[in-house]
Amino acid sequence: MFNRVIPWYHLTTKKLNMQRRNFLKNSGIAVAGFAVVPTANLFAGMADTKVKIGIIGVGLRGQNHLELLLRRKDVEVVAICDISERMLASAKEIIRKSGKKMPEIFTGDVFAWKQMLEKIQLDGVIIATPWEWHKLMIIGSLEAGVEYVGSEVMIGTTLEDHWDVVKAAEQHKAQVMMLENVCYRRDVMAVLNMVRQGLFGEIIHLQGGYQHDLREVKFNDGVNPNGHGVEYGAKGFSEASWRTEHSVHRNGDLYPTHGIGPIAHYANINRGNRFLSLCSFSSKARGLHNHIVKQGGENHPNAKVIFKLGDVVTTNIQCANGETVLLQHDTNLPRPYSLGFRVQGTEGLWMDLNKGIYIQDKSAKPHQWDTAKEWLDKYDHPLWQRWSKDTEGAGHGGMDFFVIHAFIESIKRKTETPMNVYDAATWSAITPLSERSIALGNQTVEFPDFTGGKWMYEKPVFSLGDAY
Ligand SMILES: NC(=O)c1ccc[n+]([C@@H]2O[C@H](COP(=O)([O-])OP(=O)(O)OC[C@H]3O[C@@H](n4cnc5c(N)ncnc54)[C@H](O)[C@@H]3O)[C@@H](O)[C@H]2O)c1
Repeated sequence: MFNRVIPWYHLTTKKLNMQRRNFLKNSGIAVAGFAVVPTANLFAGMADTKVKIGIIGVGLRGQNHLELLLRRKDVEVVAICDISERMLASAKEIIRKSGKKMPEIFTGDVFAWKQMLEKIQLDGVIIATPWEWHKLMIIGSLEAGVEYVGSEVMIGTTLEDHWDVVKAAEQHKAQVMMLENVCYRRDVMAVLNMVRQGLFGEIIHLQGGYQHDLREVKFNDGVNPNGHGVEYGAKGFSEASWRTEHSVHRNGDLYPTHGIGPIAHYANINRGNRFLSLCSFSSKARGLHNHIVKQGGENHPNAKVIFKLGDVVTTNIQCANGETVLLQHDTNLPRPYSLGFRVQGTEGLWMDLNKGIYIQDKSAKPHQWDTAKEWLDKYDHPLWQRWSKDTEGAGHGGMDFFVIHAFIESIKRKTETPMNVYDAATWSAITPLSERSIALGNQTVEFPDFTGGKWMYEKPVFSLGDAY
């Protein structure tokens, strides 16, 4: 039942030698600049055609995307690929229930996705596999001629992986969008609206992170996705079968993008601003070991495992325009979920944890928090105002709808995705950079400029209106 994922370091980097398909060659994506295409031009040249999507990885996250894609009238899921019989069975059940046509299924070995890319003509690929596969699958899709690749969070493991993905996207003039859904959270977007309208004044400091007790995700009984045991690796199910290995072997901010994505939009990163340098600190590691002992007993074989990942990893980032960013990664200890956002400017601030907003001269009383809800309702983002009905039933409070919506609408408009390969690389590269900083004794490390200087000229494009 359990398919052991081959570690990234055992994979060949041999280039795929697939024929690029002619039908995509002339699609003419405007890579250099973003233009909102008038409604009349939508579907130009694509009349009556549905966007053909292939999904690599229909595990728990891939199934979420599958459900959302099946709900859409403008999409046909034509191919899916996975190596797990169990995950494929669940995916097929979702498709059957939707009443939509069963896509072609590719399975059997860990490179079955290459056959899918070779055989099926795809307008877009969605990747929802373990992190160590993303770079190979993104580049493999680009080399096969796919012009829109949506990858789940983290686009690589090493810094070199991130450069490779950026270079491949540039070489193939294709769009690589990291499916960072938190950028679309309703409060996060309302605050973006407030930032853009200057309510907080000039932005000075930003905080966010990933503070989520994942102990029952990193360990389970091989059957249930959440807990009921302390197994991982070959004996674990879903994320326990791969994610936990990263906690054994790596020490850094392993999951920065839910926090940094929204922050990057607040600070116009890669669009007039950029990250200059980063410094990370890691606490001792106790949480995962204690969890194993508490749930499985001190004689359980996993009680001997040494975890490299510190329980709380904090990262400071300096921005070119003078803002500071504090990120926290905290996944091994008992705690309620919080992304810990704080957006602070010369006129006031928002903090998500205390659900508070304070704006100088506008808040009800000096030195006292307003309830954030009043402000967030007032500045509800146009996207949410327009599409909130469509978000019903979509995961993570509805925000998952928007990330798929943006990906599909970009394909239909043949334009840039609102979050591009430079955003993906910049956000995801925090992991290897934080690992490097910690390994060097908390040295400050330089942040690479994946845009090659383009950040000075680009303008913000994310969610400027209510289209997508
Ligand atoms: N944005 C979010 O809110 C969110 C939430 C959950 C997970 N994720 C991300 O989604 C991705 C997948 O996570 P998940 O929770 O679905 O994990 P999962 O383990 O449930 O699913 C991964 C799937 O990939 C398949 N797979 C592994 N190697 C493969 C290969 N070579 N070819 C084809 N299929 C292969 C596995 O069989 C499995 O079905 C990760 O990047 C994770 O971080 C994001």
